[in-house]
Amino acid sequence: MTLNIVVLPGDGIGPEVTDEAVRVLDWFAAKRGIPLRMTRHLFGSAAWAAQGTTMPDATWDAIMAADALLFGATGSLDQKHIPAEERRKGSLLRMRKALDVFANLRPVKAQPALAEVSPYKARTVAGADLVFVRELTAGMYFGTPRGVETQPDGTRRGVNTHTYTEAEIARAARFAFGLARTRRNHLTSVDKANVMEAGALWREVVTAIHAKEFPDVTLEHMLADNCALQLGRAPTRFDVIVTDNLFGDLLSDCAGAINGSLGMLPSAALSDPGPDGKRRALYEPIHGSAPDIAGKGIANPLGAILSAAMLLRWTAEAPAEADRLEKAVATALASGARTADIALPGEKVLSTSAMTDVVLSALEASK
Ligand code: NAD
Ligand code: IPM
Ligand code: MN
Repeated sequence: MTLNIVVLPGDGIGPEVTDEAVRVLDWFAAKRGIPLRMTRHLFGSAAWAAQGTTMPDATWDAIMAADALLFGATGSLDQKHIPAEERRKGSLLRMRKALDVFANLRPVKAQPALAEVSPYKARTVAGADLVFVRELTAGMYFGTPRGVETQPDGTRRGVNTHTYTEAEIARAARFAFGLARTRRNHLTSVDKANVMEAGALWREVVTAIHAKEFPDVTLEHMLADNCALQLGRAPTRFDVIVTDNLFGDLLSDCAGAINGSLGMLPSAALSDPGPDGKRRALYEPIHGSAPDIAGKGIANPLGAILSAAMLLRWTAEAPAEADRLEKAVATALASGARTADIALPGEKVLSTSAMTDVVLSALEASK
């Protein structure tokens, strides 16, 4: 059966890097027989400009019917002119919630070819290979009450609420323990149990699930502030890291420094399998719309391309092809291919599409 992949390029560099991921997936469809059909849809500010809504009905229907989404980036400077209600309608958070993709996998692997690009010492990052399981559909991003309220003295108060139910913690933990079993069997659970009740509950639930269901996995708990430090000091000490929505957002950007650029990092947001046995899935680079470099054709496409590799692994269930693509990216980097964000002074810099050309050549050579 052909997999129906809905492509949502979005804002800023989103369309630039997503085009490259689609070129790579087209190669897998044509040359490796992976049954994929990709269709692009408008949402967000591009849809607002074209159709006066941030979420055309056709796009929403396509999202809900898709086997997977390939997402570029959201965040445009023009969004100030879009009414708040419309901004919410076309938001990435609404998509994540509606698809129930609570498990956000954010793998970070030190690329040997980029050791000198990393701000950390080569000996510190060598061999780093970790993956975040960021809880994606609860916590501070979704808790209520939320909003801006006017107080009796006329001044305003901004409110957001950090909430986690036992069930929300448990399913993220189970996903992370299960993933650890397929890797090096080590899980670090990150929270602020010392300060927050929701953090203390997080630790309690993870500990109980460990004892009952995954005693074979080594579990450690770590406070989030210390984790931010250890990701730079000793990233090789981590295997799987499970954490909440907000900490996962911040800590995965911290880990971006391991390869020197946010442009290198992919992600997959997955639901539990539904009645048909299939997981809903949203693949996207972890970076944003990068307004500072948008429209110049210089963005690094590798985070988007490695997200396509995650699609091959999780949605197409073609792990050997996912490995092939990850190896092609490593080969391209080893051959010296660099976009501006990962180039050292004086090194030759490639455009977004020229970087993809090098990856495609490495794929051709891998057949
Ligand atoms: P950003 O990730 O867009 O950019 C941070 C820095 O990294 C910038 O200097 C940018 O040039 C660089 N960078 C990011 N991706 C790159 C790439 N592929 N190649 C080369 N350099 C790259 O974060 P920001 O500037 O804090 O946010 C800009 C907008 O993006 C905001 O509106 C924010 O809300 C949005 N955003 C969206 C997503 C998403 O769509 N998932 C993620 C993060 C931020
Ligand atoms: C990310 C982004 C998003 C987040 C924004 C754009 C809502 O930073 O995917 O990492 O905070 O989750
Ligand atoms: Mn982020």
